Amino acid sequence: MQLKILHYFKNSSDYVSGEEISRNLKISRAAVWKNIEELRKRGYIFDAVPHMGYKLKAIPDKLLAHEIQNGLMTRFVGKNIECYDSISSTMEKAFGLGLEGAEEGTVICAESQTKGKGRRGRSWSSPKGKGIYVSVILRPSLALRDVAKLTLLTGVCVCEAINKMTSLKSTIKWPNDVLINERKVAGILTELRAELDQVRFVVVGIGINVNTPLSSLPPQATSIKQEFNKSISRLDLLREVLKRLEELYTEVQVKGFARVLNRWKELSSTLGKTIRIVDQNGEVEGIAVDLDDYGGIVLEDSEGKRVVRMSGDIH
Ligand code: BTN
Repeated sequence: MQLKILHYFKNSSDYVSGEEISRNLKISRAAVWKNIEELRKRGYIFDAVPHMGYKLKAIPDKLLAHEIQNGLMTRFVGKNIECYDSISSTMEKAFGLGLEGAEEGTVICAESQTKGKGRRGRSWSSPKGKGIYVSVILRPSLALRDVAKLTLLTGVCVCEAINKMTSLKSTIKWPNDVLINERKVAGILTELRAELDQVRFVVVGIGINVNTPLSSLPPQATSIKQEFNKSISRLDLLREVLKRLEELYTEVQVKGFARVLNRWKELSSTLGKTIRIVDQNGEVEGIAVDLDDYGGIVLEDSEGKRVVRMSGDIH
């Protein structure tokens, strides 16, 4: 009933009387009042004026499933959403659900994570109510060798969503760090379950420092609020990311990755720079000249010799 009442308020630009709601939703005036009080406790702000009724003034700054879904223009991403106040890691939860057969597009999000995971065994700072910490379960019909490119695809979605919602120009540092003014604002982690060449499911994890104070972040990181000088709506940003994710994900399965890789190159802050990559095979240095068809970075050393790296950290 609370959702029905909320829906009623969201569709009314003016004050709505308790009597009107009671009549239209066929519940008592006392029930209307009780539900509004419950919504207030959950952070919804209502203005109440005698003889006029109530008006919804603000929704809570929280990633609630029904608020994310409100206005989310997708077919399958986010049709099923689980939100947690605190969780160890949305990746762990999503992976467990993936094993249990959760449907494609299921979204797990949290207000905070106690064991947020970053790439290469690092942790991801996840202070409460400040960032976006989300994992999405996908069941792509892609060959295993193409799945790594979903990470690049997600980087494009995050980067474009930030740029659309702010006047900032975020860029992508290979393979999947989103930067603003050269400092990391978002990261992507992809985990998968596969048997032989058959991908069972992929979990794409996205962490965005949205309204996060610098004091809660590692030294090289930043947040959108820090760079944009104002807070932005986590809900709007998350909807924008999910919408783009569905669009590009659908596209690559039909038409392949060419357009996404080109878009990645346009947004890249890595190409054209001299970089040093450290991975399990050691260290290579050179100019980042291209992205190969599998999402690897192509480096050219001082003698013009080209090498490709599929993973690693850029220094
Ligand atoms: C990285 O850049 O190292 C990747 C960071 C990925 C962080 C996100 S936050 C949501 C999801 N849950 C996690 O534990 N990690 C990812």
